Amino acid sequence: MSHSGDPKPLSSKSGEPLTGVCRVPGDKSISHRSLMFGGLAYGESRVRGLLEGEDVLNTAKAMQAVGANIRKEGDEWVIWGTGNGLLLEPEAPFDFGNSGTGCRLCMGLFGAYDFPTTYTGDASLSSRPMGRILNPLKEMGVQVLAEEGEGRLPITLRGPWQTAPIEYRVPMASAQVKSAVLLAGLNTPGITTVIEPHLTRDHTEKMLQGFGAELEVETSTNGERRISLVGQGKLTGQDVTVPADPSSAAFPLVAALIVPDSEITLPDVLLNEARTGLITTLQEMGGDIEITNVRISGGEEIGDLMVKSSELKGITVPAERAPSMIDEYPVLSVAAAFADGETQMDGLHELRVKESDRLAAVARGLEVNGVDCTEGKESLTVRGRPDGKGFGGGTVTTHLDHRIAMSFLVMGMVSEKPVAVDDGSVMETSFPGFVELMNELGGEIG
Ligand code: S3P
Repeated sequence: MSHSGDPKPLSSKSGEPLTGVCRVPGDKSISHRSLMFGGLAYGESRVRGLLEGEDVLNTAKAMQAVGANIRKEGDEWVIWGTGNGLLLEPEAPFDFGNSGTGCRLCMGLFGAYDFPTTYTGDASLSSRPMGRILNPLKEMGVQVLAEEGEGRLPITLRGPWQTAPIEYRVPMASAQVKSAVLLAGLNTPGITTVIEPHLTRDHTEKMLQGFGAELEVETSTNGERRISLVGQGKLTGQDVTVPADPSSAAFPLVAALIVPDSEITLPDVLLNEARTGLITTLQEMGGDIEITNVRISGGEEIGDLMVKSSELKGITVPAERAPSMIDEYPVLSVAAAFADGETQMDGLHELRVKESDRLAAVARGLEVNGVDCTEGKESLTVRGRPDGKGFGGGTVTTHLDHRIAMSFLVMGMVSEKPVAVDDGSVMETSFPGFVELMNELGGEIG
């Protein structure tokens, strides 16, 4: 399923201060994994707060196609899984729409089975590199029966009679690659080991442990993580409550900081340390963000964010922080446009292979709206203007990228002239109801 229909141009202009309580949808990473692990586990899982965006619904369909029973009962998603190792051969190719996470994790999960599976997606997903998943899978014995060019969708995989366990060092900071190997390891005899030099989001590890997998993580003094999974174990259905997505909270959070006289609360936001780089960065820039009511829910730290508009100043964001805020650079760049001085962001090579080339898309979007910035090979420098004088008036090309659309609609909320995006329909992939929610706070997006 792709966000069907015609492009939906949208525009935002400056309005009232933002006030109120803003409940953003459930975390996308945890939502995908809830459906995958629930669909694979033995017995019943119940999921509350699932993100009902297109990306996640495509994962639900894929899991149904391999035998999971998934239905919605009231506000809970009820899943009856097949049992580990017992997925069924699907009858048709999968369509993962815009979702790299859905597609790449399922390639690992299904690719280790001795039947063919075909993966397709929209124009954005079809242009993204899949070699990073195919390489470790091939080492495990998975055959690539078809691919478009080098490692592009549509791709057809077929596992051998039995995959081989491997020890794999992930060559780039990628939770998707780490997860794909671990998920292939679930249907592999012996111990599959993944080594990652630095922490990336660890939802796969934590949630697999929660579903009963035998999985161990050792972290060495230099931060390198060694994750070992015993294959072919039993997974058992669980109850999951999905916390609010910090990557979605990022948009009202930045909006409240830059729209004068705003004060909002974002409740129940996931505070996993692999996801909070943006909050740290905005606080370093002078953002008034208070974290309250911190508690543990389903093995994850969550809390409420109280945000007040602030005078931001430009800073250098350490490159090592990139994995903990990789999806947040577009909206951070918008915050930087309204900060006093220069914000320097480094270590951004992975941004080139997201839903769009986000480095280029952000730089073009800022430029067309009057912001002075420099795009490097893997860096971005933004020279801000707190008064936003002369900002806006441009139309941003979103390239089927939800986070580009939302970031620039946030920019329009405080620019001198309105900011337009060529297509807002793609926001349905991760943040259904974005426009309504922002307008309820006081925004003027339409
Ligand atoms: C995700 C991992 C990240 C992130 C994506 C979600 C996940 O991708 O950008 O939005 O749920 O594992 P990479 O692992 O490719 O960095």
